[in-house]
Parts: sequence; structure tokens; C-alpha cells
Amino acid sequence: MNLGITRRSFIKTSSAVVAGLAATKFAPTDTLAAQGGAKTVTVSPQKIAALTRWPRYGAAEKNRLHELIDSNKFYEELPLFEQEWQDYTKAPFVKCHVNGSAALTSMYFALDLPAGSEVMVPTYTFFSACLAMRFSNLVPVFIDIDPKTGCFDLDDAKRKLTPKVKAVEAMHSWGLPCEMDLICDWAKEKGLVPLEDCAHAHGASMKGKKMGNWGQMAIYSFQASKVMPSVEGGMGMYQTREYYERAFAFGHYEAPAKFAKDSPVRAYEGTGFGQKYRMHPFAAAVARMQLKGLDAMNALVEKNVRALNDRLTQLPGVAEPRCRPDQKRAYYHANMLMIDFKKAGCTRDALVKALAAEGVRASFWDYPQQHTLKIYSEAKWWHHPPKIPEKMPGCEYVNANHIFLPLFYGEATELIDQYAKAFEKVWAKRSKLA
Ligand SMILES: Cc1ncc(COP(=O)(O)O)c(C=O)c1O
Repeated sequence: MNLGITRRSFIKTSSAVVAGLAATKFAPTDTLAAQGGAKTVTVSPQKIAALTRWPRYGAAEKNRLHELIDSNKFYEELPLFEQEWQDYTKAPFVKCHVNGSAALTSMYFALDLPAGSEVMVPTYTFFSACLAMRFSNLVPVFIDIDPKTGCFDLDDAKRKLTPKVKAVEAMHSWGLPCEMDLICDWAKEKGLVPLEDCAHAHGASMKGKKMGNWGQMAIYSFQASKVMPSVEGGMGMYQTREYYERAFAFGHYEAPAKFAKDSPVRAYEGTGFGQKYRMHPFAAAVARMQLKGLDAMNALVEKNVRALNDRLTQLPGVAEPRCRPDQKRAYYHANMLMIDFKKAGCTRDALVKALAAEGVRASFWDYPQQHTLKIYSEAKWWHHPPKIPEKMPGCEYVNANHIFLPLFYGEATELIDQYAKAFEKVWAKRSKLA
């Protein structure tokens, strides 16, 4: 499979490699640490722990929490957060929810589709992106991911379109935007509602438009591991008043009274539609402070990723998920590299072990493929049984051919140089790894 880099990243990387090579001191004859040689990474474990610690809360979060507790006006924090998120993303309508899963359940409810309608979702995703639709009697159609990006495979969606499919939801894996322009064009042509799961992609955009504004509705999660963490929390983004009002009223019984007299949702004052999904005001306080630092943190993380990957992607067979020049990605959880291990001439286990011996924290993780999990194969949970595909080649490829390197959340020049040297050293001897 061709995991080629873009022209732009090639130009960027080719100049960086010159600088990278100049900085490299290791000689190809150096013995691997795994075989008794010197360990390449010498930055102290304490310093590395400080650079990789996530989430990161500080004085701003603590002060705001104290102010909020003293104010006794807890719920006023929610509209403040919503207003700031709306200013940041330029979404026509937003509503915060207790978590991203609640935002998903509300979003599927807001679609207001006939029971048994189908919604396309990537199988490479979090369970609630698929299961939340069950409560609105919707059924998932599992779509593969593109092995070059790890994101929604539009060609697979085109193959799997049925008359029952009414909506298509794309998830921006690890912070990389899906090609929402192409997905939205296709959805429009076929009369489908495009939706986005932006749980990994805070601050990411495409063609200058923040993710979450491409689909008719979208969700974000602010769970503790996320790019903008508030321990728990979620946000829905809506392009129309109708979607906003239905999604809002699903889990917020106080919502209908706020709507104009002509709103079809207004009549449900006092009940809403059955859930209570209010975000915790303490979480909103933390989220507000995190939002203030989001762009600066994303820029620092990206700078560090570039400094490392511009060197590593010069190594034959090491690539990044493809990012288009008009996409601005975020980085969630890790710096994911794609390595075709069949072509590389070593196993992933051996590579990770050799890197660990050098002091590089490399790892990998099989993202659960939702369609393989028990609940989707049992008809009793569903309006009609979801179709379980036999194979998802894109998912299988990405799960088997990636490694994760840590993200660095501080100035890390020395550590990045050592990581690059360690990787270059191990890569040069990869065919000899046990
Ligand atoms: C892709 C994706 N969608 C949705 C969610 C749900 O968010 P939450 O954990 O806030 O419910 C997550 C959480 O991990 C996720 O990774």
C-alpha cells in the first residue's frame, strides 16, 4: 500500500533532513542498547514524565474553580463556556452536554429519522458513536478507514450505500480531519445528512473552517485524555435551529421554555425528551480555561511533532498519516507513525523492544473495530440486525502497521533529538532485530 507523503510535507521534510543529519552524531556501527550498547535517550525520566504528562491543569483552572465555588452561581458557567466555544468555532448553535457520548445520543435523536433508518459510521471508533443511535432506533452501517489517513473511507461508503442509509458520520481519527468536503459533496448528492465526531480534533480545521462545522451536526468530547480536557464533558454543534432545539431538549428538560413560541419543541416544557445531560459546571470551568490555551498548546505539540517526524519520515518505510495542505490537524493521544512492517523487514514487537532499550517510549494499540463486538451481532438490541462485514482491510492495515510515539507538551529540543537518533540507530539495524 502506498503511504506516500504529500509534496508539501516532502519539501518541508527534505530541508529538515539536512538539518537533522547535521545534528546526528550516531554512527551506523553503534551497538544497539538492546545488544549491550549505550542507551541513546539520556534525558532524565522525571523530565520526560513532565514533558509527556496529560492532562495539564494549572493555576488558571484552580483559580476559576475557587471563584466558581465562592460565587455560588454554578450554572452560569455553562452559557459562558458555550459562548466562548461558539466564538472559537463560529458554529451557528452549540450546546454543552455531560460528555461526548451524551452529545452523540442527543445528535442521533435530533436527526428525527424513521425507525430502522441506517447511519454510516467508521468501525474504527469509540463504542458510543455507534451504540448511541440505538436509542433512536437507528442502525449502524460499518465503514472502513483509509489506510493512508486512518479516517473515513468514502469509497467504502459508496460501495455500502443502501436506500435505508439517511446519514453519514465521520470521525477525525487522532485529530486528523476527514476529507469533509468530499464527504459532504457526496452526502448532498445522495440526500444524506453529514455528521461529525470531533472527539479527537479540538482546534483542527479544513479550508479555514473548524471541524464540527462541516456536518449538519457534530460532537466534541472533553474527557480527561482529550486534546482539550475538562475531565468529563461534551459539546454539540448544530447548523440549524431545528437540530439544535431537538438535541438540546433531549437531555435538558429546561430547554423548551427557552425557545421561541413557534418552536415545535416548545410544547415539551417541563420534560424535554427524557434525559438529563447537563454538563457539570466545574467541568465547564476547567474547559473554559483549557480553551484559552488550546491554540498555543496545539502549536507547541505540532512544532515538536514536526521536529521529530521531519527526521523520521526520511527513513525508508516510515510515514505519517496523510494530511492535505488545506487541512490543519490536531494531535490526540500520540504521534502516530505508519510503517508497513511486511516491507520494513522487522516485526513491530522487535522494533518497539529495541526502541524501548534505547529509551524511546513506543507503543501500539489496536483500535477496537466496532463491528467485531458482541452487541452488534445480537439482533435483540436492534431495530434490524446491523450487517457485519467480513473484512475491514483499512482498519486491519492501520491497526497492524502503526506505532505511537508520545506527544511532548513542552520545549523538548534535546529529547526530540535523542528520540530521532535512537530511531535512526534502530532503523539502520532493523533487519537484524531479534
Ligand atoms: C471517537 C470518540 N467519539 C466519542 C467519544 C465519547 O466521548 P466521551 O468519553 O466524552 O463520552 C470518544 C471518547 O473517547 C471518542 O474517542
